[in-house]
Amino acid sequence: MTLPHAAAAPPRVIGPGAVVGVLGGGQLGRMFAVAARRLGYRVHTFTPDDDSPTGQVSDLEITASYEDLDALRTFAGGVDVVTFEFENVPIDSINIVEEFVPVRPSAVALHTAQQRAREKMFLADRGVPTAPFAAADTLDELWDAVARIGTPAVIKTAAFGYDGMGQHTVTAPAEVERIWTAIGHQEAVVEKFISLQAEISVIAARGVDGAVAEYPPFENRHQRHILDLTTTPAAIPPAAAKQATQITRTVLEELQYVGVLCVEFFLSTDGELLVNELAPRPHNSGHLTIDAAVTSQFEQQVRAVCGLPLGSPEVPRPAAMANLLGDLWVDGEPNWAAACRFHEVKLHLYGKTAPRPGRKMGHLTATGRTVQEAQDRVIAARDALLI
Ligand SMILES: Nc1ncnc2c1ncn2[C@@H]1O[C@H](COP(=O)(O)OP(=O)(O)O)[C@@H](O)[C@H]1O
Ligand SMILES: [Mg+2]
Repeated sequence: MTLPHAAAAPPRVIGPGAVVGVLGGGQLGRMFAVAARRLGYRVHTFTPDDDSPTGQVSDLEITASYEDLDALRTFAGGVDVVTFEFENVPIDSINIVEEFVPVRPSAVALHTAQQRAREKMFLADRGVPTAPFAAADTLDELWDAVARIGTPAVIKTAAFGYDGMGQHTVTAPAEVERIWTAIGHQEAVVEKFISLQAEISVIAARGVDGAVAEYPPFENRHQRHILDLTTTPAAIPPAAAKQATQITRTVLEELQYVGVLCVEFFLSTDGELLVNELAPRPHNSGHLTIDAAVTSQFEQQVRAVCGLPLGSPEVPRPAAMANLLGDLWVDGEPNWAAACRFHEVKLHLYGKTAPRPGRKMGHLTATGRTVQEAQDRVIAARDALLI
């Protein structure tokens, strides 16, 4: 007779009523906090900014710099588990918090995704296709990198980039010196400029127990390198969708990831699927899951980091999301009443007080019988904001 193997101890569930800590105070933390509170958790936010979008909907906002180790210890001492909504939290700060409570996703996952060169090496080492790239630390290396990759190319700062910040297209080697000055002589990554058929993202969660749930691919359109519109189902070949999901699963496994991860992809005009970048957190393209999926990406993040079973990632109907940027405020307050007359459209605002061009202030979501119908709805409501 063979005895059954002793089952591994099930992971400890951090149940509703516990306190979840969030590092960062932006809109991603805000939507996470709303989801956590709906499930009966308390939320403490650690952010350098006072009255932050996350802090406004949290039980407690600790306002201090990420370098303030005493404040970090106080924060960590008051919570049961910690996640982050901001990618540039210093790893040293994460390590301090980890002495007290689990941080999910882990410092290793964050470290990998925090720096473009490191992230791309991680992917390349695992055979995950990316755009051809080269890293550069000095002006000479930048010349070499551009020569190797060829033009047109995109020069991106290796750290602290978001919404196209720190990105420059280079069409001729003569522009390299000017760009090196423009990026402030920082470490950079040079990427081949890809002729795009489509951009998609796959958002997936991995639980403490290793279970994985992925949303269907979302199709993303950008304006000025900033996400403008997301739709699903994505109009891409089924083979590309399958490959994107497979790659996302590989990344989750390789990082032994716990939480929600987004993988951004390019689908080139040649039909090649390439990973653009990783976001170790919920993602702007996933905002439509709040209204259109069985489980939102934020609830999924709560479930994953607290050790609860993951929810269904199904998106039962075609859906669309349009971002609302600070540009909408050029002539004063947008016409909210006009947008709210579109009954099938959901309005989300992030409670930010200072609209600036390019700054994400909120979004609109709609479902429809077709992608086109969902998209028409969010665009009509957005247009109405300026009437
Ligand atoms: N190598 C490239 N080829 C073509 N388009 C690119 C390339 N790199 C970036 N872009 C465009 O710029 C957008 C933002 O770039 P990304 O690297 O994702 O930076 P961010 O961190 O700002 O999101 C992409 O979604 C894409 O539309
Ligand atoms: Mg991006």
